[in-house]
Amino acid sequence: MSNVATQTYPPSDDMAANAHVNAAKYDAMYHASIADPEGFWLEQAQRIDWMKPFTKVKDVDFTFGQVKINWFADGALNVSANCIDRHLETRGDQTAIIWEPDSPDEEAQHISYRALHAQTCKMANILRDIGVGKGDRVIIYMPMIPEAAYAMLACARIGAIHSIVFAGFSPDALAARVQGSDAKVVITADYAPRGGKATPLKANADKALAGCDPSVKCMVVRRTGGDVAWNDARDVDYTALEKEASDICAPEEMNAEDPLFILYTSGSTGQPKGVVHTSGGYLVYAALTHEVTFDYHDGDVYWCTADVGWVTGHSYIVYGPLANGATTLMFEGVPTYPDASRFWQICEKHKVNQFYTAPTAIRALMGKGRAFVDGCDLSSLKLLGTVGEPINPEAWNWYNDVVGKGNCPIVDTWWQTETGGHLMTPLPGAHTTKPGAAMKPFFGIKPVVLEPTTGAEIEGNDVEGVLCIADSWPGQMRTVWGDHERFEQTYFSDYKGYYFTGDGCRRDADGDYWITGRVDDVINVSGHRMGTAEVESALVAHPKVAEAAVVGFPHDIKGQGIYCYVSLMSGENPSEDLRAELRNWVRSEIGPIASPDMIQWAPGLPKTRSGKIMRRILRKIAENDYGTLGDTSTLAEPEVVDDLIANRMNR
Ligand code: WTA
Repeated sequence: MSNVATQTYPPSDDMAANAHVNAAKYDAMYHASIADPEGFWLEQAQRIDWMKPFTKVKDVDFTFGQVKINWFADGALNVSANCIDRHLETRGDQTAIIWEPDSPDEEAQHISYRALHAQTCKMANILRDIGVGKGDRVIIYMPMIPEAAYAMLACARIGAIHSIVFAGFSPDALAARVQGSDAKVVITADYAPRGGKATPLKANADKALAGCDPSVKCMVVRRTGGDVAWNDARDVDYTALEKEASDICAPEEMNAEDPLFILYTSGSTGQPKGVVHTSGGYLVYAALTHEVTFDYHDGDVYWCTADVGWVTGHSYIVYGPLANGATTLMFEGVPTYPDASRFWQICEKHKVNQFYTAPTAIRALMGKGRAFVDGCDLSSLKLLGTVGEPINPEAWNWYNDVVGKGNCPIVDTWWQTETGGHLMTPLPGAHTTKPGAAMKPFFGIKPVVLEPTTGAEIEGNDVEGVLCIADSWPGQMRTVWGDHERFEQTYFSDYKGYYFTGDGCRRDADGDYWITGRVDDVINVSGHRMGTAEVESALVAHPKVAEAAVVGFPHDIKGQGIYCYVSLMSGENPSEDLRAELRNWVRSEIGPIASPDMIQWAPGLPKTRSGKIMRRILRKIAENDYGTLGDTSTLAEPEVVDDLIANRMNR
């Protein structure tokens, strides 16, 4: 990917004049946020309602071995009251959520703030009735339906900690998260319609719960009304109870540092870890970034196409927009159903003003041709955003020209599950954008570029290295659920005194930032983050597999594909059937998003004499770049490399 912009795009006169933040304001606010973080965040924290004011803004230590992160620590608030109740007086009848179902033949819903309040209270009361209280964990395994948002807000209302598991994950992956967070309840739906097909979510939950503690309840939303198995001792029928439940439920007073949610995400080693976000700082950060990055103004219709199973759905479908009293669109389906114009039809139908999606969707739609876009009226669009992976200039230009008609600034937002909200992005009224660049740090963010091996800070411009952040911001994750040591080890041990992002970056001659991709064993498949170690451990769990190594390789649509090298147990023979079997095996262990793109039979894997797999070499072969393998002299058996090259899949 190129790191140099051939063309740049300054803010329009209109944006520069009317956006919340213009160039001068960005400079002043950014400077203030770095010079006096306490003063800056004290002021920003006033954008939410506190039940009890805080006396201390920030209490942070990034020292390895004693990492602690606290913001507004002695304040109290309720996140659901901030997202709903405080808007009732001024905007009770305003639409909070526009819900667009999978099928365009089904009617969209407009849920007002008043209706959102009633539904959230009902869900909260039902949860309380089945024994959920403050601090308890609730797993949400749901389609993209309004009840998913009610469930999140209902948990927040009663102080329960939600952990959403993407509905595309397998029963095994769901079970691991139920057990990992020691959850009391799984909230699910009968079926999840998506792209004209319906995933049997309840049946998946049944399979998962068969391996969990029998006390775990299963609450079921009837989405399609399709048949499901029922266990009276365990299952709770939300749709039946909702009719009778009270729509009044007082919000629990929560400490600013009480956990709001856990979200499992992949790392470079081991199984996914539970990222913990807390209440006060997270909400302040999600709300501020939502308003400023997307330049959201009262009355706008804002649409983020993510799923609530990912952090983007948490911060930028639910918490950020609702804290701001916005109208947020929630879409159940996929961009290509019934055809590749669906996104643009929805933009036209609901007069969407800000549209936020992933580069992988843009690339997929670009491949279908511009006629699907040109047939729709996109004149309501004011701003476009991208998230989740680097965007290549071709996709950026198509987004800009064909979707934005050259009139919409594009915010390329770089951030992570761990960061809670945007850390680097251009601001639409302030910055000249460059296709592919994340451009500027958000307020309060101090990016540093480090020399990868020594960890020395690289000053000046036109430099490249690993990306760390020098100080905390309110939206930062606080710990790994149940394993603070792993938190410190993962993010604070490699580069002492900094938060290590796992990404590489370049600061160009103008001082603007470009994300160059992960520097660890995390890959990004269609904007979904995946640990190669997870796929490896799924493969070696198959009885015919002796050893496996997994790497990413460049993929036109997905960004990265999954390339697996597999050594079979002695006596087992490679075959196309076995390849299909292994692919299905990984899908059932993790989920369809982890489906291997290529499986190469490897009689041996390149290892150092101490037995460490040389991934650098495997990556090169998968990238079809084996001309520059580098030094292979430290290999125990250099000849295995020749075999792997001769039999590579990615020609
Ligand atoms: C990558 C998603 C380039 C990056 C919000 C990061 C990006 C990982 C961008 C986090 C972007 C995210 N440009 N790369 N605009 N946004 N990434 O936790 O490698 O699912 O570390 O959070 O995605 O993925 P996660």
